[in-house]
Amino acid sequence: MFQAGRVRLVDLYPGLGELLAEVEVRLQEVSEGTDGFLRTAAQGTIAGRGKRLRPTIVLLAAECAGSATESSLALATAVEMIHTASLVHDDVVDGSSLRRGGRSANAEWGNKVSVLLGDYLLAQALSLLPREGSEQLLSELVVVAKQMCRGQIQELLGAGREISEAEYLEIIRAKTGELFGFCGRAGAETGGGSAEVAAALGWFGKSFGTAFQLADDILDLVGSDGRSGKPVGKDGAGGKYTLPLIFAAQRGGREARERLARVLAAEARLAERDVSAEELAAVRELAEATGAIDAAWEEVEGWLGQARERLRAVPDNDAKRALVALAGDRFPMPVMS
Ligand code: IPE
Ligand code: IPE
Ligand code: MG
Ligand code: MG
Ligand code: MG
Repeated sequence: MFQAGRVRLVDLYPGLGELLAEVEVRLQEVSEGTDGFLRTAAQGTIAGRGKRLRPTIVLLAAECAGSATESSLALATAVEMIHTASLVHDDVVDGSSLRRGGRSANAEWGNKVSVLLGDYLLAQALSLLPREGSEQLLSELVVVAKQMCRGQIQELLGAGREISEAEYLEIIRAKTGELFGFCGRAGAETGGGSAEVAAALGWFGKSFGTAFQLADDILDLVGSDGRSGKPVGKDGAGGKYTLPLIFAAQRGGREARERLARVLAAEARLAERDVSAEELAAVRELAEATGAIDAAWEEVEGWLGQARERLRAVPDNDAKRALVALAGDRFPMPVMS
């Protein structure tokens, strides 16, 4: 079901290209009032080749619920900023030097600057929230931001341990699903949708985001740096039992568990022993041989099916069809645009 080629989000829906172009202008204008290093760093980080998937969901949800407004555009810009801030921090946490096909902020300027740059982008994002309904949006976003931190911390603290499938799903829902849920829900509200439609689009976003992070985790194992624009193998090297590895451990029995533990063990990371390419390849082969990769892709399909199911409560229109496609045969893999 998944397309081999890249999905062009602007082709999903008439007018989406213009709306996204407006978001792009706003993203670039954001640091205009700031001088010097922060301006260059913020603009450089924002200008990278991101897919702009979260703004896309805000805008499609708004169009689906009614029509995209000034508030929808402001919200779309703000969520992309928050996402970008989270990536700047994530690359510090994951020790990753490649992002969106270029050097990550931490590779370019170091961890100290990246912590502050991420904070700056987050603060900028909050200042971009639409004025209309700002109190409500802000309180919802605070909850989402806290969930993102919780998910990232839970993942970090669980490293080196074979977590349960339930714990894994809780982590990816918190760190990724919640922001997508907010995009659907708040996007619909800015488009003039009823509470019922906004709730349905919120659930859509949450399920879609869960599928998206799951796909990203599978590609970390079987994808390539060239396509994703970021280094593969980072999760395994960080000792993270993502779903394909949890499945591999469950299916492969004791021997598989021991092999996985040798590569992912926290002790290995604490001793700062780098996980070699050969070790990661062996983990990938194990996941493939046990059918864990296929099983994990089936889970992605399951979450996408749930996302589409949520849209039943939403009136039929072109924007809804675009969202159905996004959670179906036009699913945008976590690869570069
Ligand atoms: C990367 O998100 C982080 C995940 C939640 C998997 P994207 O794949 O949307 O990253 P960009 O914005 O396109 O770079
Ligand atoms: C990060 O997940 C998700 C965030 C909330 C930032 P990953 O660590 O898998 O994201 P990538 O693969 O580096 O983009
Ligand atoms: Mg990462
Ligand atoms: Mg991470
Ligand atoms: Mg990843």
